[in-house]
Amino acid sequence: MSRFRIPQPAPSEITPEAVWQSRRRWLGQAAALGLVAGATPEVLASDGPAPSLPALEGKPSGRYSVMDKPNAWDDITGYNNFYEFGTDKADPRRHAGRMVTEPWTVEVGGEVLKPRTFDLDELRKLAPMEERIYRLRCVEAWSMVVPWVGYPLSALLKQVEPTGKARYVTFETALQPEVMPGVKRRIIDWPYVEGLRMDEAMHPLTLLVFGVYGKILPNQNGAPLRVAVPWKYGFKSAKSVVRIRCVEEQPVSSWMKSAPTEYGFYANVNPNVRHPRWSQATERRIGESLFAPPVRTQMFNGYGELVASMYAGMDLARDF
Ligand code: MTE
Repeated sequence: MSRFRIPQPAPSEITPEAVWQSRRRWLGQAAALGLVAGATPEVLASDGPAPSLPALEGKPSGRYSVMDKPNAWDDITGYNNFYEFGTDKADPRRHAGRMVTEPWTVEVGGEVLKPRTFDLDELRKLAPMEERIYRLRCVEAWSMVVPWVGYPLSALLKQVEPTGKARYVTFETALQPEVMPGVKRRIIDWPYVEGLRMDEAMHPLTLLVFGVYGKILPNQNGAPLRVAVPWKYGFKSAKSVVRIRCVEEQPVSSWMKSAPTEYGFYANVNPNVRHPRWSQATERRIGESLFAPPVRTQMFNGYGELVASMYAGMDLARDF
């Protein structure tokens, strides 16, 4: 467990907001004086969070954060998968601004004793926010490191009291065809649906995310709330969730429906199981030089000490 017990990321590993802000101010002044070559507004924009977004802070979690250096704000909010807005990595930032995120409710039901619809205010207050630096490994063999702000999904599930029949949890995400140009293409059967086994959903690493880098989530990252399951491929982490259901049978996720031989229900990061069309043994960290050697992908994305026991006795090549 040692990797996750380190009390806090070293100050050199992350840049606190005050430092970003002062760096932005300095760069701005220096640019105005012509002191920094290339310190254009774009450079400033890529340096830290957009100041226009409201703050959402969380207590830094040393227990569940990795020591890797977080990606820049610009990578995290400019290189996205959110197919509702298009398949190009730049499409979500370009189009997601029109998604309506207020008012927002999440209906939580199914095999539960106390089904309930929560509004965003209630959800934000349900449990103390934490900042957790998580790895995100996409099935497309790239990765990032993201300082999410949120709290464990278990806090929400406990509110509705799942029954003994509740063995899985499904997440249904927003569908707003008028502002989502990507849903015209039937790449998947919209709305986007994902699922977890109940023990995975209740695992302390599974985070309900409301913010990133101390700011509320930008739309392209799944505003106003999304899931982050760091030991699984990124597609399991459903964005802009509107409905959560506890169910008895293993759900069929959108990607399983679209390409059953390529995407399984578990989707645990596993360097030993190929995607049918490419290897999963290595990954490219977004933001690093294209000449940097590829990074070796770790089993369970490096979270094995915390999660491997949930899969004891399973054949992860079959249950991929
Ligand atoms: N959620 C919805 N609703 N639609 C999507 O297309 N893409 C998934 C996941 N959640 C997706 C989604 C994939 S493939 C990845 S890698 C992550 O979101 C990307 O999250 P990020 O853009 O915040 O890095």
